[in-house]
Amino acid sequence: MAGATAAAPMDIDAAAPPPPAFKGKGPLPASAVKSSPWVEKYRPQSLADVAAHRDIVDTIDRLTDENRLPHLLLYGPPGTGKTSTILAVARKIYGSQYGNMILELNASDERGIGVVRQQIQDFASAHSLSFGAKPAVKLVLLDEADAMTKDAQFALRRVIEKYTRSTRFALICNHVNKIIPALQSRCTRFRFAPLDGSHVTERLQHIIKSEGLDVDEGGLTALVRLSNGDMRKALNILQSTHMASQQITEEAVYLCTGNPMPKDIEQIAFWLLNEPFSSSYKYISDMKMRKGLALIDIIREVTMFVFKIKMPSDVRVKLINDLADIEYRLTFACNDKLQLGALISTFTTARTALVASAD
Ligand SMILES: Nc1ncnc2c1ncn2[C@@H]1O[C@H](COP(=O)(O)OP(=O)(O)OP(=O)(O)O)[C@@H](O)[C@H]1O
Ligand SMILES: [Mg+2]
Repeated sequence: MAGATAAAPMDIDAAAPPPPAFKGKGPLPASAVKSSPWVEKYRPQSLADVAAHRDIVDTIDRLTDENRLPHLLLYGPPGTGKTSTILAVARKIYGSQYGNMILELNASDERGIGVVRQQIQDFASAHSLSFGAKPAVKLVLLDEADAMTKDAQFALRRVIEKYTRSTRFALICNHVNKIIPALQSRCTRFRFAPLDGSHVTERLQHIIKSEGLDVDEGGLTALVRLSNGDMRKALNILQSTHMASQQITEEAVYLCTGNPMPKDIEQIAFWLLNEPFSSSYKYISDMKMRKGLALIDIIREVTMFVFKIKMPSDVRVKLINDLADIEYRLTFACNDKLQLGALISTFTTARTALVASAD
């Protein structure tokens, strides 16, 4: 998209160029819609389509209606609708002039101080065409702003102030603490939290209906659970499961993502809590091989299981701490077999402590 808009500053006062061909995240042409991934096909086109974050979306909507859009800073975890929201705002304000009035820069573009001094300043300082009575305010969209260098951020402070009359800046990032405080204070901040399960369900149901998919209740629950509030992830899992099997059931979803099923985790937890070391080791290794499970996924799920079962708190604290250590070691690519042994040993120690506390 940046490529389409980078040349815009010079063209703005000239005759309006034809709308750019589809690039990046703009509206998809009809031919591309059919074959495109669902995350793009179902990217919200208007603010009304954005699921959840109603308060944020309504506030931004009102501000654009009143032509009082401030500089924005949208932050939050991936797949929660930040980019989609701002693109919907831009589409609402500029309509067909969308391509001329926004400068979109994301992490794939150069993000050093040179860009702020050249591209952004050029764009912000160029005169814009006015549509209707009010002079149109341009929009500089800095997606993945946390990837900008510190120097570039410092340089941006002054640019934001200098061109406030004609240009609004929208910064989007995952990690707000990587944006310097001076920039944060120039923007109105909105946090996009992970989507609530009910909102993910609702949006998925809409897509399932439009695509005419066969999804049972267990499948839908599994999708929502595995997405962890990331709508992009939910859509990607839905599409890949659909490619793998006609019917989208709980099992198909877990198989497709390679995540352990809840009933497998229950079984593993049962072995860990009841079987002697050697048989536990054998059963879990067998299951890992048979179902292609990764130990790190097992550890994460078993940890959630430990939160749910009843045990004295000192035993639980020690157990969780040990599980965290194993998870940490696994991220450094330690020996899987040894770490599985460590997992079983941890539970064996916890069992001894449980017996002692019961006596
Ligand atoms: N709130 C939402 N409502 C509807 N769809 C959503 C929402 N959030 C995400 N999606 C879906 O997920 C896709 C990715 O969303 P988007 O690009 O807006 O995420 P993001 O918050 O910018 O993530 P990142 O931080 O990774 O850039 C969209 O194309 C859309 O299909
Ligand atoms: Mg984004």
